[in-house]
Amino acid sequence: MGREETDTGVSGAAPAAEMIFGDWYPALRAGVLKPGKMTTALLLGIPLVLGRKKDGAIFAMRDLCPHRGIPLSAGWFDGETVMCKYHGWRFEPCGGQCQEIPSLTQIDTLEPTKIYATSYPCVERDGYAWVYVPPAGSGRVDATQLPAVPELPKFGKRFRSAHLVADLPCNVDHGIIGLMDPAHGPFVHQAWWWRSQASIHPKEKKFEPIPEGFRMSAHAPSSNSAPYRLLGKPVTTIDFVLPNRRIETIRAVSAKGKESWFSSLTTVTPITAATCRIDVLAAWDIFYHVPFVTAIATYFGKRFVQQDQETMIEQAQGLRFNPGLMLIDDADKPAKWYFALKQARLTGSGAHPLAGPVTLHWRS
Ligand code: FES
Ligand SMILES: [Fe+2]
Repeated sequence: MGREETDTGVSGAAPAAEMIFGDWYPALRAGVLKPGKMTTALLLGIPLVLGRKKDGAIFAMRDLCPHRGIPLSAGWFDGETVMCKYHGWRFEPCGGQCQEIPSLTQIDTLEPTKIYATSYPCVERDGYAWVYVPPAGSGRVDATQLPAVPELPKFGKRFRSAHLVADLPCNVDHGIIGLMDPAHGPFVHQAWWWRSQASIHPKEKKFEPIPEGFRMSAHAPSSNSAPYRLLGKPVTTIDFVLPNRRIETIRAVSAKGKESWFSSLTTVTPITAATCRIDVLAAWDIFYHVPFVTAIATYFGKRFVQQDQETMIEQAQGLRFNPGLMLIDDADKPAKWYFALKQARLTGSGAHPLAGPVTLHWRS
């Protein structure tokens, strides 16, 4: 017999966070989308069905038939149209327009093409299927009015790349402030090849405002990180931009004057109001000619992301009890800026938490 839940006032579920609609989010890796095959995903609590048409175009529809709500993914996709399993309505998936309602007779006047299933703008970039998730109740999306699709910065044509993914059992706010938190490194990411608690030292970092975000201004990266020592004279910038993007670039010039670069795009995407997913995409031309570097980088990157993931799984245990939380100066200041930027976006106030360049101090 199942154990009865006693009412302790604890819901057992992770606390929800408000989500930012009206922007682009990575739904999944586009490589899984094959002609004639449908794949489902959840994005901001919306069930999606994604696929690739025979002509190569990818699509994302709300995974609900507009007739009676059965998931469209339960039906059939022939590489051109999606057919609902229940009554066989057929939809063109890129725009959602209904093409056929099999039950109609010649005396019916209903025009199927006036009916639309909900479809979302969907673009393949950097190997992801990016989906524009419109504000609720905004009607049909005007494709000419959309913000730019995010892109990993690249500084040359030849590069190697790798990507990582981890589901986090916490809401998007905890995922994002965990991402920008400078003080957890020596504790969560302890390893000989990264940092150790013994190497903690004072840091001073310059930040500046950028539209809907902030930039950790160009500087030579942490001298206590072994991988960075290999690069010559590197200059790093780290941007955070709403709704969920961290973009890091490292550009270096060796003693012989040879340029090299590394860049990464990390996003924390709400899956539901209470859960999120972290995606890391990195590209580099450093060590381009050295075999196995992609495998090695992916191995260490995976360890790194797993350490964050394990920590957030543990944190989620505590967050179920909805404790009060603290943000302290200066190590938690980027988190405060994030909350202020998000509030400005949600209210449309246009306010920015940084009036100009700021220097923050912490030890890590
Ligand atoms: S529920 Fe989809 S066609 Fe009827
Ligand atoms: Fe981390």
